[in-house]
Amino acid sequence: MTEERKVEVFPDPEALARGAAQLLVDRARDAIADHGAFRVALSGGNTPRLTYETLAQSPFKEQVEWDKVQVFFSDERWVPSQSPDSNYHLAWEALLSKVPIPDRFVHRIDTAETPPGESAALYAQGVRRVFEVGLTAVPHFDLIFLGVGEDGHTASLFPGTQALSDAQNLVAANFVERIENWRITFTFTLIDAARCVAFLVAGAYKADVVGRVLGGADLPAGKISLEDGRLLWLLDSGAAAALPADVRPST
Ligand code: 6PG
Repeated sequence: MTEERKVEVFPDPEALARGAAQLLVDRARDAIADHGAFRVALSGGNTPRLTYETLAQSPFKEQVEWDKVQVFFSDERWVPSQSPDSNYHLAWEALLSKVPIPDRFVHRIDTAETPPGESAALYAQGVRRVFEVGLTAVPHFDLIFLGVGEDGHTASLFPGTQALSDAQNLVAANFVERIENWRITFTFTLIDAARCVAFLVAGAYKADVVGRVLGGADLPAGKISLEDGRLLWLLDSGAAAALPADVRPST
């Protein structure tokens, strides 16, 4: 049985951000060498901000061939793109406005012009167009960043929501009762097809959910299934405080 996932623990959020930035640099270099492009999906929430800010600075910024990078979003809140709650807005402010990536290579999820269901379908079409694959193929992202909420959600795959069981689509519109709003999210189908998925989790307040997910609890973040070490959990020491005894961090 191949190692399903790798867990790496960093001493603090800044070290975690540098580790995540280095992962993106390494995966981008390898992807561009292999197939001439790096297609990445960024996660939202607060945790990745430090990683994006770190990527926008030396020595990381200069190490990425930004004109060969295609940026997508693993989920988006149903808010205007200029809202401080927008995952696109977070990535734009912290990273994308500071690196020489062509605007046409930043693929924002539409949360203004079309209804949620149509927005999800259009986004999935856009993913397939960039990957140049047909309607039945599942594209393989080079890297997908994810976070995990205290309820065990990841992307916008929340416990008890309809998108958890969507096996037909790459991207789903998901109404989340708890927040009484829509979300647009990658589905497990698209996430599980990635060449690498990296959870970025920081803070002692996440230790309990990280311990439950890595301990096998039935939570959305625990349903991401990639073999051969393609699933990474990058944690700071706070988030790693309740790891199950059989989970051996690689650092
Ligand atoms: C979102 C995210 C979501 C996030 C987790 C963790 O839109 O909120 O995509 O899945 O990654 O909720 O968020 P924090 O990093 O803010 O704890």
